[in-house]
Amino acid sequence: MSDYVNWGILATGSIAATFAEALHQVDSADLAATSANLLAVASRTQASADKFGKRWNVPRCYDSYAALAHDPDVDVVYIATPHPYHYDNAKLCLEAGKHVLCEKPLTLNGKQSAELIALAQRNKLFFMEAVWMRYIPAIAKLREWVAEGVLGEIVAVSADFNFHRPFDPNHRLYNRELGGGALLDLGIYPLSLTTMLLGFPASVESHATIGTTGVDESVGLLLRYASGAVGMLTCGLRSNRPIEATIAGTRGYVKLPDFFLRPDHLILHLNGEEPQTHAIPYRGNGYPHEIAEVHACLQSGALESAIMPHAETQQMMELMDQLRAEWGVVYPEE
Ligand SMILES: NC(=O)c1ccc[n+]([C@@H]2O[C@H](COP(=O)([O-])OP(=O)(O)OC[C@H]3O[C@@H](n4cnc5c(N)ncnc54)[C@H](OP(=O)(O)O)[C@@H]3O)[C@@H](O)[C@H]2O)c1
Repeated sequence: MSDYVNWGILATGSIAATFAEALHQVDSADLAATSANLLAVASRTQASADKFGKRWNVPRCYDSYAALAHDPDVDVVYIATPHPYHYDNAKLCLEAGKHVLCEKPLTLNGKQSAELIALAQRNKLFFMEAVWMRYIPAIAKLREWVAEGVLGEIVAVSADFNFHRPFDPNHRLYNRELGGGALLDLGIYPLSLTTMLLGFPASVESHATIGTTGVDESVGLLLRYASGAVGMLTCGLRSNRPIEATIAGTRGYVKLPDFFLRPDHLILHLNGEEPQTHAIPYRGNGYPHEIAEVHACLQSGALESAIMPHAETQQMMELMDQLRAEWGVVYPEE
């Protein structure tokens, strides 16, 4: 691997812009041994590619995703389309020999994700689901504390990710054609936080309110573990609520305010002690940490990240398949 990594961004929407900003912050943050070079962007239209290219200083702007996938100088492609397109877009790039960082959820369902993971492994390419949250320093510290037993035995995780998004049948969050629904877009974060700390549950009870467009608008989940631990999670598009998580153990609990909105501190409440606030800032807009992980994996030749391994992505996709099957939420592509 050379001293810099040439990135291509596939799509020009909201998260693509956030990621482009982060690519420009990686070097200054001195996070990665290698530099990030934002070499190319692709859109379905030349106008959008050019506009994005101008804003983010990208030298090569393509009017098709295929042109990006076949640019011989691009090392790794970041996929930022709505979920139903992840499968085709990632397949295109993996078949063209590119390493891939793909937005969450990796695909619409477990069948698609299993195929892509096998393809990446066969072609010896790095492939990762972009669960940026896991690379944020405060979350990494939380993981360390739990592993070290700072909280004792974990008894409960509660985590909520809800906001009020006014109903719009055409917006991707409500639109079935665009993979709408709270679980795949928002619920994946509280689920990923819980499974990161406790593994996958023995069983899950769920309730979902299905809206007029046929997608899950509000969800409650109860995760049960063999140890007796529980996860109590909600996600939804119908109400504003604090986006918080609490991880409770026999020795105390940690509160993670704004756990989705890039947490920069943890509040540790040990039994019988005053609460302690630990400031744990993130760099840039928060996403450089995820990019640094991709660079580290590419440098070491790892085909997957130990922090977001393929097996966990696959298990998560299958768990979400199971939940959607219980609620009758099916996407047209399925
Ligand atoms: N990591 C995070 O924090 C985070 C945050 C938000 C979203 N996400 C994930 O990122 C993905 C994209 O979300 P977003 O909020 O960036 O979406 P968005 O603003 O709607 O952008 C999606 C982009 O995908 C491309 N696209 C291709 N086919 C499309 C179609 N049929 N309809 C609409 N757009 C299409 C478009 O780019 P072109 O026109 O240039 O082709 C569009 O700008 C989702 O899977 C979501 O779960 C992640």
